[in-house]
Amino acid sequence: MERVPLGIKKIDALLKGGVPEGSCILLSGEPGTGKSLIMQKLVYNHLKKGNSVIYVTTDRTSERLVEEVKDYGMDYFKYVKNGQLKILDTYVGFVRKSEKGFSYADIRDLTEISIKIEKLRRELEGRKFVEVYDVISELFIWNKDKDLVLRFISSVCSSGSNKSIALFFVINEGIEDDRYINSIKSVVDGVLLFGVSEDKRWFKISKMAKTSVSTKKHYFNITEDGKIRIL
Ligand SMILES: Nc1ncnc2c1ncn2[C@@H]1O[C@H](COP(=O)(O)OP(=O)(O)O)[C@@H](O)[C@H]1O
Ligand SMILES: [Mg+2]
Repeated sequence: MERVPLGIKKIDALLKGGVPEGSCILLSGEPGTGKSLIMQKLVYNHLKKGNSVIYVTTDRTSERLVEEVKDYGMDYFKYVKNGQLKILDTYVGFVRKSEKGFSYADIRDLTEISIKIEKLRRELEGRKFVEVYDVISELFIWNKDKDLVLRFISSVCSSGSNKSIALFFVINEGIEDDRYINSIKSVVDGVLLFGVSEDKRWFKISKMAKTSVSTKKHYFNITEDGKIRIL
């Protein structure tokens, strides 16, 4: 079985090389625990290797995302221009015409989002790509029918698992009902939990298909220049 590395050496070592190819992974934790930074780094590592990426952003515009990672030394724009990075911007209130390689969808319209995702997947057919959804919590905030959001997430996961090499969903804890988080945890193949206790950041692998892992907490730091240092 092939594995898909995150590109963060120590985490990949814990995962025996990476997450299983074709898997859906959930990153869950309170806001500010480092989930987005890990995703932004994973995306950049895959782009640098020549893989492509579908990045669905819900809690910041694509412009803000590109600006933010630039501050940390990652040039996303270069990869938007060469077609390797496809950003789908669903930031509410910002429904604009697609431009400069960015695409847009209304976060309150799950059908539109599905259609746009399928379009991006077709554009990347024959290439290796990962998909990142940061954060799916916003889908629950903006859509009244929570069961529909759950169905949307599980259909994105099952329809993507034979197209992309891995899918990553980020969720902020403390916003939705635990019921929804738990059903997503049961649908996905892997769960990485993030937290902060006594001023120390940690993550743990609470579930990973086809991988024997310890469920202990691993403490880490984020350095000034945005490096993840496992302690
Ligand atoms: N590139 C970076 N360099 C330094 N610190 C960072 C960087 N990215 C994030 N951080 C710090 O890590 C914290 C957690 O970031 P983030 O990944 O956005 O959390 P989450 O997505 O879990 O809400 C931020 O509040 C910030 O203090
Ligand atoms: Mg975040």
